[in-house]
Amino acid sequence: MCRIIAIANQKGGVGKSSTSINLAASLAVLEKKTLLIDADPQSNTTSSFPVSDNEDCTFTIDLYNYEKNSIRPFKTETPNLSFIPTNINLANLEIQEKNYFGTHHELKHSIEDIKNEYDYIIIDCGPSLNFITTSFLCIANSLLIPVQCEFYALSGLFKLFNVFKTIRDNYNRNLDIEGVLITMYDKRLAFSNVIVEEIKNHFKTLVFSTIIVRNITISEAQSHRKTVIDYDASSKGALNYLALATEIIDNNKNDEMSNDSLGKNLNEILDDAKKESDLSTIFDKLPINKERKSANYFSKNYEKLIGLSKKDINSIFSESYNDYYSDIWVFRLNERMSYFKKNYLYIYFTEDKVEKYELTVFRKRDII
Ligand SMILES: Nc1ncnc2c1ncn2[C@@H]1O[C@H](COP(=O)(O)OP(=O)(O)OP(=O)(O)O)[C@@H](O)[C@H]1O
Ligand SMILES: [Mg+2]
Repeated sequence: MCRIIAIANQKGGVGKSSTSINLAASLAVLEKKTLLIDADPQSNTTSSFPVSDNEDCTFTIDLYNYEKNSIRPFKTETPNLSFIPTNINLANLEIQEKNYFGTHHELKHSIEDIKNEYDYIIIDCGPSLNFITTSFLCIANSLLIPVQCEFYALSGLFKLFNVFKTIRDNYNRNLDIEGVLITMYDKRLAFSNVIVEEIKNHFKTLVFSTIIVRNITISEAQSHRKTVIDYDASSKGALNYLALATEIIDNNKNDEMSNDSLGKNLNEILDDAKKESDLSTIFDKLPINKERKSANYFSKNYEKLIGLSKKDINSIFSESYNDYYSDIWVFRLNERMSYFKKNYLYIYFTEDKVEKYELTVFRKRDII
């Protein structure tokens, strides 16, 4: 039986496309007939394959105009892996659709036509909970949520779970959570394990045992228009995605994944997701230097930080446990809480320069 897995998280850059491409390739290498669908008008996944704009194959937009027996996916060089690419026409569809829940019938018929040819269909959704994403959730068996190992890992997930619940209650009663996947884990960063622990506390058995490490081979492979398996099968990235594919195959061995086997029911998940509005505890566990003198120097005039580089900020705040690659950094200030309770400093970077800052209480700021 075919399992249709939609990979979604409305947050950008968390590893949805990388996971879609490399999970699909890994399933194919493990001899599962797999179809990958690019459901993001940004077409990042499509750029990972040698497909031209006028390729003689079905594009994702065509799935919304059902025509019996007309679907012809692109055959990739990886055995067992077929692909439905996207093009800019998908973005036009997005603009036309106003009331998007429940208008997925043509898509459903299209997928029904082909699903028996595959063991797995993997869908790469874009960074938004728009018509395209929701329509694919209406026809999927499960949702896989990549979560980047960073401070704001859980923010916004409540919204995603709410959409999940609306779709499950109204349009697709069998929609499951395939799992929460931690991506871009970097063991060199002191806070990584704290964040992993926090994600596991929240989502418990929903979190995959496999964690995807930050591995440059994953992005290199994409720039060579290859899957990480084809590019360097011995790399950490390839091994991680093969492990994820194995875990998913194992989880699905008893075809029927009931809620019980997920370890939690939906209400519990939603309750947990609500807690994301209070992630302040994560900071208490972080090994942040409490004697940060120069931070106080700036406390009266944070404007001085504008325009500084990440390197500058690192040297000012003598110890930084922020992810160097992230564009949002946060510091807990050791000054006495003022009337305004400004006990956290957020620094936002654009192209390695501080663009703006915010002084705030974490708890209030993160309610989405
Ligand atoms: N494990 C990893 N190690 C190193 N780089 C990674 C890893 N996963 C993803 N990347 C890189 O991070 C960037 C964002 O990843 P990706 O495109 O997969 O995210 P996304 O969630 O699909 O983004 P979007 O929301 O824009 O669709 C890409 O440049 C990708 O190559
Ligand atoms: Mg993407």
